[in-house]
Amino acid sequence: MAQMKQPNDANAQDGRERDDVTGQVTTGHEWDGIKELDNPMPRWWLWTFYATIAWSLGYIVLYPAWPLVNDATRGVLGWSSRGEVQDNLARAADAQSVFKARIAELPLDEIRQDPELLRFATAGGRSAFQVNCSQCHGSGAAGFEGYPNLNDDSWIWGGTLDDIHTTIVNGVRFVGNDETRISEMPAFGDMLDRDQVAATTQYVLSLSGSPHDAAKAAEGESVFADNCAACHGDAGQGEPSLGAPALNDAIWLYASTPQAIAAQIQKPRHGVMPAWGHRLDPTTIKELALYVHGLGGGQ
Ligand code: HEC
Ligand code: HEC
Repeated sequence: MAQMKQPNDANAQDGRERDDVTGQVTTGHEWDGIKELDNPMPRWWLWTFYATIAWSLGYIVLYPAWPLVNDATRGVLGWSSRGEVQDNLARAADAQSVFKARIAELPLDEIRQDPELLRFATAGGRSAFQVNCSQCHGSGAAGFEGYPNLNDDSWIWGGTLDDIHTTIVNGVRFVGNDETRISEMPAFGDMLDRDQVAATTQYVLSLSGSPHDAAKAAEGESVFADNCAACHGDAGQGEPSLGAPALNDAIWLYASTPQAIAAQIQKPRHGVMPAWGHRLDPTTIKELALYVHGLGGGQ
């Protein structure tokens, strides 16, 4: 402060002009009476500035820096961000290959007994599911009309690990795969008259305790025993080996309205699930089976 307050001390020691108000030395430049004060940068600032220049020169030599037309200067260290990503990926792949190899060789049941391996397989199965299955079954596997919910314990084709695995490998009614799961509910529109269809519909509703017309359901009982029980079971409990869904639970592949049920009896839909055995590698399919089995309904 003392140094700054040196009014009218022009031409002091160094012979340079000082500003009246601040007492600061001026550069001698003046515009309309306004004088430019000579305030040099602090030393520490200047040295930091020079250091950053030196640093940047070193950086330009060592690392990729100057953009060129298609590329950039390479830098003598040969480092690249792509190379680093590749290194990381290679390291991750190494770590994974150990797990992958064990999933490939062990039977499903044994993988399931090994918590660490199961966690790895389930994570892989979850991402493969999002890519290949979610468009039909939903990203949370809760399904849509005609596409079964895979979270519940009601299985059309069976819910053991092996059943699920077989369904994924071979698909359902998938043309072009000889091993595909297949069964066809006949179109009863040709065999039963309208009253019989209506009565059987009420009987089907009664099996799951859904609202129904009891008198009509009683009429439908014998039609069901004669025509339907062979596949769906005497009590409508379903038959996984025939892909015949249980009718005695309130879980429906199609809709639960009398219209939808009557439509299925008259002209069944014969849903198709693609076979994945020739599209995905065996390890991924195992991971998918473990993932689906682990969703909650696995048997
Ligand atoms: C194009 C649609 C579609 C895609 C994609 C699809 N599914 Fe399906 N999935 C179906 C249909 C339809 C059914 C029911 C078939 C039937 O009527 O029996 C089904 C049935 C299943 C079943 C049997 C369910 C049960 O209750 O028994 C499993 C398990 C299954 N899918 C898993 C998968 C997996 C895992 C994938 C991915 C790799 C997948 N699905 C991809 C349409 C699809
Ligand atoms: C040859 C075996 C077979 C016979 C016989 C059969 N079904 Fe089916 N049923 C199936 C199969 C397989 C499905 C599953 C899916 C499809 O069509 O995609 C099914 C599905 C259904 C569904 C839909 C279930 C849901 O969850 O949405 C209803 C309802 C049904 N059947 C009722 C009947 C009735 C009533 C009869 C007798 C008049 C009958 N079925 C006879 C095999 C059979």
